[in-house]
Amino acid sequence: MSYSPLPSPSQAALAHSQCLVAQIMQAIKKSGGALPFTEFMTQALYTPGLGYYSAGLRKFGTKGDFVTAPEISPLFSHCIAKQCQPFLAAFDQSVILEFGAGSGVMATEILKALERLNCLPYQYLILEVSAELRQRQQTTLQTQIPKLFNRIHWLDRLPSQPLSGVILANEVLDAMPIYRFRLDEKVVTEFYVSYQDSQFVWQYLPTTNQSLQIAVESLRHQLPVGYISEINLALPAWLQSVADSLLAGLILLIDYGFPQREYYHPQRHQGTLMCHYQHYAHDDPLILIGLQDITAHVNFTAVAEAAIAAGLSVAGYTNQANFLLACGLIELLSALDSNNTPAYLQQAQATKTLILPSEMGELFKVIALTRHWDKPLLGFSRDERIKL
Ligand SMILES: C[S@@+](CC[C@H](N)C(=O)[O-])C[C@H]1O[C@@H](n2cnc3c(N)ncnc32)[C@H](O)[C@@H]1O
Repeated sequence: MSYSPLPSPSQAALAHSQCLVAQIMQAIKKSGGALPFTEFMTQALYTPGLGYYSAGLRKFGTKGDFVTAPEISPLFSHCIAKQCQPFLAAFDQSVILEFGAGSGVMATEILKALERLNCLPYQYLILEVSAELRQRQQTTLQTQIPKLFNRIHWLDRLPSQPLSGVILANEVLDAMPIYRFRLDEKVVTEFYVSYQDSQFVWQYLPTTNQSLQIAVESLRHQLPVGYISEINLALPAWLQSVADSLLAGLILLIDYGFPQREYYHPQRHQGTLMCHYQHYAHDDPLILIGLQDITAHVNFTAVAEAAIAAGLSVAGYTNQANFLLACGLIELLSALDSNNTPAYLQQAQATKTLILPSEMGELFKVIALTRHWDKPLLGFSRDERIKL
């Protein structure tokens, strides 16, 4: 792949990146010359003050590196609010907990919609690992919905008491550090990152990580030798801790990805790792350190299996188009003032982006995990369910 079309960072951005590079080089030295890619990704994204998500760069929206669904249209969040409504109405002091709230726009729009539906949660909690984003969320929410601001609280860790209500995460799983591997004839090879001639380079070593070895060997029957891909080994523990925080209600996870048979499809032999820099997508995570997003698609079968192991029920799985249409996206669009032509046309265009198969409609999936809930879920009521 050629990277020539990538825009050049400013001098200030390059200086920022160099500070992070120096820190990662130290970590590489300390660990004897190479870091497992998962640790490299953790540092590139989350080093306090320097990592992509932890520093002050603009990430979301047209001026950032990528656009997420809640940034495209408030109607996306209004659909989520409608899915939350029965859960909030069912419990006393119901709570919404959002992971990784980005710019804060989804929280803003969900709360506005729930206020109109007369179904506000007792509290809206946000768990955000980035101090910089937390600050930005506070500014957005205080400016946009000052009257509701006292219901919103930021957490450093999961709540000590399990809650009843809804736990949400939009495009959070894809931002979790993954292991990168190659399935070789006799061994599982792990991707490490080392530093040579003033740049980060790949090193390929037989893995010494038993969990990775076992997980990848279990896929050997379906993969050709030489197959490269990713795996999120932290997912089961993460989902267990999230499940432990839910006394009763819904966990709604939205992200791009596939069920396992498609995720590890022989044709996807270079994996799903992607980087985003100023709306350019490419596959080299070893450049633009701290300046670009690094992501991997989500294996939704692994999410479902981890959820079941954590004592949750898989109450629904579908693609974003089906979910939004079932939640009444078209009705919400029709209710907008069509005399205000530019604003209406903008929302009509945004609706297309959210649901067209060639845009976000099919690649993005929604999975609903529940505890102590046996009623059908609005967002999964269309017949077009897809298989896990
Ligand atoms: C791609 S952004 C998505 C932001 C937002 N949800 C949206 O849709 O616009 C990923 C977000 O997840 C956060 N994040 C990543 N890992 C997390 C974790 N383990 N717990 C909470 N937030 C996390 C990041 O800091 C960032 O805010």
